[in-house]
Amino acid sequence: MRIDVVTIFPEYLEPLNVSLVGKARARGQLDVHLHDLRGWTHDVHRTVDDSPYGGGPGMVMKPEPWGEALDAVLAAGPEGEVPTLVVPTPSGVPFTQELAQELAQRPWLAFAPARYEGIDRRVIEEAATRMPVVEASIGDYVLAGGEVAVLVMVEAVARLLPGVLGNAASHQDDSFAPGAMADLLEGPVYTKPAEWRGREVPEVLLSGNHGKIARWRREQAFARTLANRPDLVARWRLEGFDKKERAA
Ligand code: ADE
Repeated sequence: MRIDVVTIFPEYLEPLNVSLVGKARARGQLDVHLHDLRGWTHDVHRTVDDSPYGGGPGMVMKPEPWGEALDAVLAAGPEGEVPTLVVPTPSGVPFTQELAQELAQRPWLAFAPARYEGIDRRVIEEAATRMPVVEASIGDYVLAGGEVAVLVMVEAVARLLPGVLGNAASHQDDSFAPGAMADLLEGPVYTKPAEWRGREVPEVLLSGNHGKIARWRREQAFARTLANRPDLVARWRLEGFDKKERAA
């Protein structure tokens, strides 16, 4: 997968060199290109923002540098192909596991993280005439800019790419994974030693009885979801329970 990121803080994306994503890059599974938006400014101050039309606080990112940057990204990619443009914004659709999975199918993603109050709307509209555009929010809070959201989204997508995780089965049990774990949070996990500071690992996990273990894990997942995410419980359906039973 090819990934382009246009930002005024390329150094903010340095964690993309570390751990899972860094290794995926080193193995050639991810081809990441970082671009400094200010490279497409033409004034001495390298201005990327201006005051909002209609008044109000804060600044808005100017359309011209973004337009030129997206032209350049498009031109730098494979002939005849266009990226899916992902614009992190608290006003976007929720970035969910389902969206991560959808994006993981695409060969090329371009990210446009904004600072300040956002990017002039015309940039998004014009881009949408040339490529698919997804405006996505990583949660109901406001960050100082979209760069951290890019890190979140790239990591969530990268770990779904074939061969990136050591064990392909390991994301099937994730919280929110479709199938048996849809709308369920993962329960607690344990490793050796079997006793630590007087606390024992739940006995069922040492039983070797895979059916019992699966049932226990599902009960734990139900309990945790009820406690932490009652909003997900509203999405449980009888049919879903059936599927969970069959998958377990
Ligand atoms: N930029 C600022 N806040 C954000 C959020 N919650 N999600 C995505 N991008 C953002």
